[in-house]
Amino acid sequence: MLLLKRCLLLCCIMLSPMSMAATPTSGPILIQGAMDIETTTLIAALKEKSEVTMGSWSFWKGTINDYPVIISRTEVGIANAAAATTLAIERFKPSLIINQGTAGGHDPQLQRGDIVIGKTSFNMGAYKSEFTAQGKGITPTKWQNFSVTMRLREQGKLVEHNNFAADKGLLHIATTMANSYTKGKVVTGVIGTADEWNREVDRINWLHKTYNTSVEEMETSSAALVAQAYNVPFIGIRILSNTDLHNQDFDPQTAVDCQQFVLDYTKKIIMMRN
Ligand code: 5AD
Repeated sequence: MLLLKRCLLLCCIMLSPMSMAATPTSGPILIQGAMDIETTTLIAALKEKSEVTMGSWSFWKGTINDYPVIISRTEVGIANAAAATTLAIERFKPSLIINQGTAGGHDPQLQRGDIVIGKTSFNMGAYKSEFTAQGKGITPTKWQNFSVTMRLREQGKLVEHNNFAADKGLLHIATTMANSYTKGKVVTGVIGTADEWNREVDRINWLHKTYNTSVEEMETSSAALVAQAYNVPFIGIRILSNTDLHNQDFDPQTAVDCQQFVLDYTKKIIMMRN
């Protein structure tokens, strides 16, 4: 009896991450990167490859360890990320989405080369301000983040989102890979997305203090919004390619290191599904 209970517990521990992650359970894995340097390593890893282009967005279909995978080059910024994600979901019906790539550091504990698994992401560039009269000036630190109202079909109502949470199962699997990454730390954290590239250290510190951001970049929460609308499990994985908190400029090698981590992660997901 005790043995049976132990076996059941072990099964639950092993199965729970994927059972949380996978709805639906079939369909290709979609991996997104904004720029060529953030996608070429992934594309090179595909077998039986073919390319599909819609508008300005290209997708590479293929397999990794015999499982169907789509690599999407979203292009840079929130509008591009939303468009590429919508097209990919409609056309390829992915079972889950991994948005990955480079980012700028907001957390002083993090160095270039460290990886942030996005527990949440949010639109860091959406603001509203209180009325002030002419001549009273502009005070960005008083602007408030603006949540997005989504019309979610399965809930049959309007839902406010001030952030988007990663799929719990996908998050769990990513954290189990922390020890296998040798180029830096792997942590969970908050990804701030905006059509911005902030280099004012006071602003970076203010964003970190106000929103607890680990990194900033330009696509994740936008792709997450579309994934949420279609109820597709989603995770964002971002590497620090630069951080003005430590005078570390953009290093393109980090984009390759992130893709390598994501490839290992994808293989692990595929292994757990088989
Ligand atoms: N701020 C904003 N975006 C960044 N990126 C890398 N570092 C930063 C940063 N500090 C990523 C964005 C975008 C591209 C310009 O690089 O996600 O795709």
